[in-house]
Amino acid sequence: MPRLPFTAPNLLAPMEGVTDPLFRQLVLELHEPKDLGGTFTEFLRISQQARTRRTILQHLGTQGPIPVGLQLMGRKSDALLETARTAVSAGVELIDLNFGCPAKGALKGCAGAAMMDDPRGLEDVVQSIHDTVGSEIPVTAKLRAGGDDDSLLEDLVRAACAGGAAMVTLHARTRKEAYAAPAPWERLARAVTASSVPLCGNGGIDSHADLARMRQETGCTYAMVGRAALGNPWIFSGHEPSAKECAEFLLAYADGLMGRDAPLRGTVSRLKQLLRHWSVGGIAEVPEGRRSWLHEGDPEAVLARLGTLAEQDRQRV
Ligand SMILES: Cc1cc2nc3c(=O)[nH]c(=O)nc-3n(C[C@H](O)[C@H](O)[C@H](O)COP(=O)(O)O)c2cc1C
Repeated sequence: MPRLPFTAPNLLAPMEGVTDPLFRQLVLELHEPKDLGGTFTEFLRISQQARTRRTILQHLGTQGPIPVGLQLMGRKSDALLETARTAVSAGVELIDLNFGCPAKGALKGCAGAAMMDDPRGLEDVVQSIHDTVGSEIPVTAKLRAGGDDDSLLEDLVRAACAGGAAMVTLHARTRKEAYAAPAPWERLARAVTASSVPLCGNGGIDSHADLARMRQETGCTYAMVGRAALGNPWIFSGHEPSAKECAEFLLAYADGLMGRDAPLRGTVSRLKQLLRHWSVGGIAEVPEGRRSWLHEGDPEAVLARLGTLAEQDRQRV
């Protein structure tokens, strides 16, 4: 079994439209490898055509001491296998397969969470990628707890292991439950029992303390944070940032996006996506504070307000 490259048990989840290379890089720069063990690209969807080396490298972004796995999503096809081969030749050190996306497009293409009804099909996809990339490159599988219910949970985990997965990530919600709270962690403990490889738990981590608590309560080897990291990019180390640090992070993200030619309005929409979840530094926790950012229609005013916070180091807005 190939060695997993992670430097610590805490992992940042892939989130399409949010954890782009720039956001990931900013989060990675906030952390030491002992606090954040690894992250993943947003999913790269493969339908008819294989993806090029250039697209793969763009998706991966800058590489540093904390590993970044490439996430692929697609049904078993020549295009998927060719993309996996190209990824390995481009230097990708881990390939993750997405079996959790509940979006209609994925389900229609028999990819993502469509496979939650089909353990045999899932095993086949994992096996085909495993055989294609060889025994040096770990292939991991990110599952949900099932489709309409969790009755196939153990079968799905065993199928991923039988296909050669080096780690199984389980998002504790079913496809039907989508992103609704709560994420029943007892399903993670069931998955740990069924799995012959390290299990990564995911779903409902809200705080730094939850990372260790998930591993203790469920027996997972790794714990993966999704949305809570959007509202607290420091969640992996437990550092409690000031308002100034929060504003600087958000402004660095805005600068980076605009440096990549994103329009001002689109850039501020991305900031608002983070502010919708923001939970630290005293800048948007209370509902009125959050609304005051989200309802601001003038994008320049959002940046100016962040600029003031970054300069003044106030603890409260
Ligand atoms: C906006 C958004 C985009 C997501 N994109 C992906 C993705 O590209 N690949 C994936 O495997 N999961 C994706 N997910 C699911 C997350 O990785 C994670 O499994 C889910 O949010 C549950 O974790 P949480 O409760 O900590 O947020 C996405 C979730 C959100 C909210």
